[in-house]
Amino acid sequence: MNLIYMGAGFVGACSAAVSADSGHNVLAYDINSDRISKLSSKDPAIINGCLHEEGLAELIIKYSNTLKFSTDHKLLTDSLETCDAVYMCLPTPEKPDGSSDLSAFKKATTDLAILMSKRNNKEQSKHIIIINKSTVPIRTIDLTKKIMKENGAENFGIASNPEFLVEGQAIYDSIHPTRVVIGAESEKDFKIIRKIYQRFYDSPNITYIEMNPYEAAATKLLANSALFAKIAYTYAVAGRACEVFPNMTYENIRKGLATDPRIGKWGLYNSLYAGGSCLIKDAQSLSYQLEKEGVNTDFLHQVLNANDYQLSHFIERAETEAGFSFNNKTIAVLGLSFKQDTNDIRHSGAIGVVKSLLGSNVKEIKAFDPVAMEDFKKLFNTDDNEINSKISYHKTPDEALKETDCLILCTDWPAFRTIAETAMKITKPPYLIMDGRRMLAHNYDELSESGYTIIAIGSPLIGKNFGEIK
Ligand SMILES: NC(=O)c1ccc[n+]([C@@H]2O[C@H](COP(=O)([O-])OP(=O)(O)OC[C@H]3O[C@@H](n4cnc5c(N)ncnc54)[C@H](O)[C@@H]3O)[C@@H](O)[C@H]2O)c1
Repeated sequence: MNLIYMGAGFVGACSAAVSADSGHNVLAYDINSDRISKLSSKDPAIINGCLHEEGLAELIIKYSNTLKFSTDHKLLTDSLETCDAVYMCLPTPEKPDGSSDLSAFKKATTDLAILMSKRNNKEQSKHIIIINKSTVPIRTIDLTKKIMKENGAENFGIASNPEFLVEGQAIYDSIHPTRVVIGAESEKDFKIIRKIYQRFYDSPNITYIEMNPYEAAATKLLANSALFAKIAYTYAVAGRACEVFPNMTYENIRKGLATDPRIGKWGLYNSLYAGGSCLIKDAQSLSYQLEKEGVNTDFLHQVLNANDYQLSHFIERAETEAGFSFNNKTIAVLGLSFKQDTNDIRHSGAIGVVKSLLGSNVKEIKAFDPVAMEDFKKLFNTDDNEINSKISYHKTPDEALKETDCLILCTDWPAFRTIAETAMKITKPPYLIMDGRRMLAHNYDELSESGYTIIAIGSPLIGKNFGEIK
């Protein structure tokens, strides 16, 4: 089938590549010319540097005959003549009040509607389904319909196909989704979408669910808020218990919890912050929509607050427990992406850490990440020279650790598991190690015996007097 993707970011590019792998002809259109030229480069290193997703570069290069990336409006216009479906994969970031910023979505939908209204032979032109993959407010289907009609588009259907992929494993997840959720309004559209997703519809391993578009949009927001609530429990209850009671190792507690199938494994990793482009924004959006309908959203606010508290509590422990002031110190920050296996830094814990360190007047921040330094540099490249001069970027963790007073580990890159040995070679106690991911849990005793001060998420507060049992 002939498919168009509007937006070639993490979701658009990965889904487009997997659609090409399913045998479809795909045009991925984006307004970001830098991104499009990198994705079209046929160079795995350049593609990876742009969107670091395992397997993405290979698929893009393998299907270069049937998968095109472009900013060309003319090509988009021509492709609409034969197109079966247009996927909307636009950013929907949060506004300060928590509502979704739909400006990119509205702009792309309006552009699309205008182009569709100009199709040759309008009356007989092909029926096109506009399939939304962006995470949007529950009633966005009505908005999409309104924009299409107001701009003269005809012969279209509107559907919702929320995306559940996990960054870092987006290609795997797109080829092996746990479920495919389709919200459409007519049997005609359900049938076309079944054809697009034949490999999933026919698969005995994938649950293919059909519902209406409002339910599909809501499913995504409700799924993400349920996942976020579980993480908040880990941070605010399970992890905290291990900080305030003696002789508790978080890994043991986690095993004890995760082996109950009703609780499950997912979300029990303790960390300094739940970042990424989705959880925070989607909880805020859901909360905003429910509040507008008069619903009490204390629960969702508690989840969001638990996440924010987790980060500030972690940073404050340097001062309150180790008596360590960041003022005028040199700090190594390892890991800038919001999680391993991605270069996505949106809402990454490292951003909060670096902002907090700058606020505490550090002398220097020595940063390292295997793939996310470029975007981080752009984010902190401000007009304020003092900020720019305080953050330096390093090619290796060893280089970042040299001549520092403290290490803060922010991302769970597997390579960081051996960082304790590197730290013991390069740094000398007294030295503070703050482990925001419990990556060095198996080294805490050895590090402490060697004179290092360890502050780890979910480890007993240093110097806490547990008191006598009565
Ligand atoms: N990233 C994820 O893990 C994930 C998972 C599930 C759902 N989602 C949702 O999917 C949507 C897209 O997320 P993403 O991470 O891919 O975002 P992204 O920022 O990586 O990509 C969005 C792309 O849209 C492009 N764009 C903006 N305006 C455009 C226009 N008018 N025409 C064409 N292209 C335009 C941007 O240039 C960008 O490349 C969001 O709603 C997000 O919440 C994301």
